[in-house]
Amino acid sequence: MRTVGRWPLCQGPLAGSLAMWLAVCVGLTGLVPVVLQTLACGANTSFSVVYLGRREGPVSAHLYIHTSLGVHKYPVSAVGVASEWGLWPLVGVRVPHNATLTPLLTLHNPTPHTVQCRDVQVQEIYSSVGWLGLQLPGGAATAPRALWAVPPHSSRALVRLRLAAPPPLPGKPRDAPDPRAAYIRIKANVTGPPLVVVVEALAAPPGAHAQPLQLRAGTRGAQDPPYKFEITMGNSEGAWQAVAGGALPPRCRAAPHAPPPPPPAPRLHNGAAAHAHTHTHNGAAESAEGAQLTFLRTQLEPHQQPEPAAEFTLDFAKLWARGISPDDEEAEQSEDDEGGAGGAERWCAGWCCAAAARCPTACACCPARCGCPHTYSE
Ligand SMILES: *[C@@H]1O[C@H](CO)[C@@H](O)[C@H](O)[C@H]1NC(C)=O
Ligand SMILES: *[C@@H]1O[C@H](CO)[C@@H](O)[C@H](O)[C@H]1NC(C)=O
Repeated sequence: MRTVGRWPLCQGPLAGSLAMWLAVCVGLTGLVPVVLQTLACGANTSFSVVYLGRREGPVSAHLYIHTSLGVHKYPVSAVGVASEWGLWPLVGVRVPHNATLTPLLTLHNPTPHTVQCRDVQVQEIYSSVGWLGLQLPGGAATAPRALWAVPPHSSRALVRLRLAAPPPLPGKPRDAPDPRAAYIRIKANVTGPPLVVVVEALAAPPGAHAQPLQLRAGTRGAQDPPYKFEITMGNSEGAWQAVAGGALPPRCRAAPHAPPPPPPAPRLHNGAAAHAHTHTHNGAAESAEGAQLTFLRTQLEPHQQPEPAAEFTLDFAKLWARGISPDDEEAEQSEDDEGGAGGAERWCAGWCCAAAARCPTACACCPARCGCPHTYSE
């Protein structure tokens, strides 16, 4: 087992000095072989494995090294840790056809205390594919450099992503597409591994969509006040959509863990009401779980542009009071150092469902007050 060790999310030496690398796409089927070479008898070779984390916590995968003498299976593992730059991978995003999701990409300047406080100047941001466009937050074509200067200990919205439904891979049916990954690279005058945000999206039938795409409250204390997210919803279908749904109670564990799978989207026909599905809880039940979704409207008009439609609240005291969720499924493969033995922090992850839209919800909770919580809502 080769261990990459603890590695911040959204950082990877994609543009580093490495001559060869392999991307380990944890959670995706298949790896992309990118190394081709011939080895002489008795010769050695080496290659680097780039870990581009998709979530916090331990992950493991296998590299399959195909050679003329057979396939070698090589286990690798890594532990994803939250990015101090406030960046999060955007994974599992459903993009309905004829909709464009427009989350803001925000950068936080963490400026470690060991160095003199300095602005971080972002010089360039680029996307790897056409279905993931970039736009200045104000919509203008150009902006002064100062708009991309991030003062120490503050956050700045750099660009608005324009995320369209990814086209199907060649040879894949349009009605059963695979998720597709894209990358956003942020070039700035910082040292260390380059900043790379993974965006993994799946085309969905026309219909309702919600933003923010992720409801992350960062690290919060049990005595911190509840945090409320405003959710906007739009509709890319030419028919009315009901906005029923609810919050899937977060699963809390003593270590970062894979979120539960997203609840299936309800099947809608010609705007028929989306009746409560299996994972929906009504008001009282949800708030007891520490997560509550309240709708501000009951329907979305045909082709409705995004408008405020719901509020989602995380109540950290209630989440803390729930304790550790029973280990219903697979025992966490936390053979790594991330066991959380002290129990000082808990990681909670769930889902918020509004019509066909699915937003992952997450926070880390500690017993009392945590210093300086950050909010990463995109
Ligand atoms: C796409 O959306 C626009 C409005 O946003 C609408 O005018 C158009 O008819 C839609 N196209 C389809 C194929 O639904
Ligand atoms: C980055 O560039 C800005 C503007 O040129 C400068 O003020 C700042 O000190 C630089 N920061 C670092 C970490 O080099």
